Amino acid sequence: MRRLKHGGVERARDVTFKQGVASGDPTAHRATLWTRVDGLERDARVTLEVARDRGFDRVVERREVVARKRDNYAVKERVSGLDPGEQYYYRFFTRKRDSDVGRFRSTVPMDSNQPVRVGVFSCQDYESGFYPGHRALANDDLDVVVCLGDYIYERSFDESKVRVDKTGRNGDGEVQSLAEYRDKYALYHGDRELRDLRANHALMAIWDDHEVEDNWAGDRAGDKTIDPRIAFLKRRRNGFRAFFEHMPRMRNPRERFRIYDTLRFGRNLELFLLDERQYRSDQPCDDQVLAPCPENERNDPSRTLLGKQQMSWLKRTLRESDAVWKAVANQVMIMSVDFPAGSPINPDQWDGYGADRTELLTHIRDQRISDVAFLTGDIHTFFAGDVTPTGRQGPAQTGPPPVATEFVCGSVTSQGLLDSVGLSVQPDLGSLIVDGAVAPGDNPHFRYSNVKDKGYAVVEASRDELKVSFRTPASVKSRNSPVRTLKDFTVTRGIPRVEIT
Ligand SMILES: [Fe+2]
Repeated sequence: MRRLKHGGVERARDVTFKQGVASGDPTAHRATLWTRVDGLERDARVTLEVARDRGFDRVVERREVVARKRDNYAVKERVSGLDPGEQYYYRFFTRKRDSDVGRFRSTVPMDSNQPVRVGVFSCQDYESGFYPGHRALANDDLDVVVCLGDYIYERSFDESKVRVDKTGRNGDGEVQSLAEYRDKYALYHGDRELRDLRANHALMAIWDDHEVEDNWAGDRAGDKTIDPRIAFLKRRRNGFRAFFEHMPRMRNPRERFRIYDTLRFGRNLELFLLDERQYRSDQPCDDQVLAPCPENERNDPSRTLLGKQQMSWLKRTLRESDAVWKAVANQVMIMSVDFPAGSPINPDQWDGYGADRTELLTHIRDQRISDVAFLTGDIHTFFAGDVTPTGRQGPAQTGPPPVATEFVCGSVTSQGLLDSVGLSVQPDLGSLIVDGAVAPGDNPHFRYSNVKDKGYAVVEASRDELKVSFRTPASVKSRNSPVRTLKDFTVTRGIPRVEIT
């Protein structure tokens, strides 16, 4: 036990912990613990306690921590000296008030053969519904939960409005200033199921576009904000800063807003977390969905999705990894979504950045890096399929052999192709979607697609196989909807092919 002195900073008194608690960045011996203190007007101390049991009889760490005004009274503490593969409990408190009790598991030791279980979700638009899937994930037996982006939505996209978001200067849910982004996270963390999920497992989140603005790219705005009140780079900084304030991740000492990283779980899994927004070039062809985009523009080698530095880091860490499964948690789809065959519909995903896709996938092929699985969000649709170096497969698997697999985990609530576009609005899309699947004939690389259901994925990495389960709630209109399995998949070690089980 150790007690830190915080010269002159008073203990917090009448405060609450409305946004709950969270943990992140777990290793075999360390983790980052998070809360936010409500009701403060200046810096103040609270106590953090970590124990081996829920009753806090076996305390392993107790320390005073300072909630600072400059951090919006978010508290993040790195604790160390943990034993590998163990369950720990933690809480923050003042003399009068306790936070919720959180729990997390330190990662299994490097020589462990234990199967590793990961919950994966993306796209939880508050206005589009409740989070019954988060309740199921919170109660699942998991080593970590990964959010692939769109943890918040910076404005209103859903006219059906199962829930109403009144954040923003105009009360219409649109946020641009730092204070407004902070209000947005507070709104989302008002949700009981999301708070329970954060309390029950370590969470690793990467941002996609809506943590800042729809379809932004590098230093360029997404051009869809009707009334841009703040210059884009300032707005992006506001979004990044609010993200880090509300996530259980420490900032990288070398690069303030770097989110790409790896996380290791024993012998069976290395998790690669990417950033496909901050370093990317602008989308080709004015980012038009369902519009023809010439190949030379899509594959222009001067354009990048990952940026030079992240690309060389990814290639090197993938090559050096001795984990059985290399799961790449990535924002946008790496398999093509074509209509018709050979003609991609969405230049915002890897399809619009062909040079980077070829570079990464030929590297995986040429370096014989086996057992790579991409885990993907963004598109509000479930897909599973085989990844070839071109992103696509020919009819009856006549194209190049696959080098990896991809699992796209649907959306927690956000509206998908069927809800938001509607078959009557876009007649061409009608032929793109057949019985809830995206034009299977045009995309032979898909083993499965489903544009109808909401949900998430659970991934289990073990010595001989990778199992992926797509799960779906009966409805997102009620917080208590039952959750069922939509489809189960297996990938056998050494064979980059998705099998439906
Ligand atoms: Fe989304």
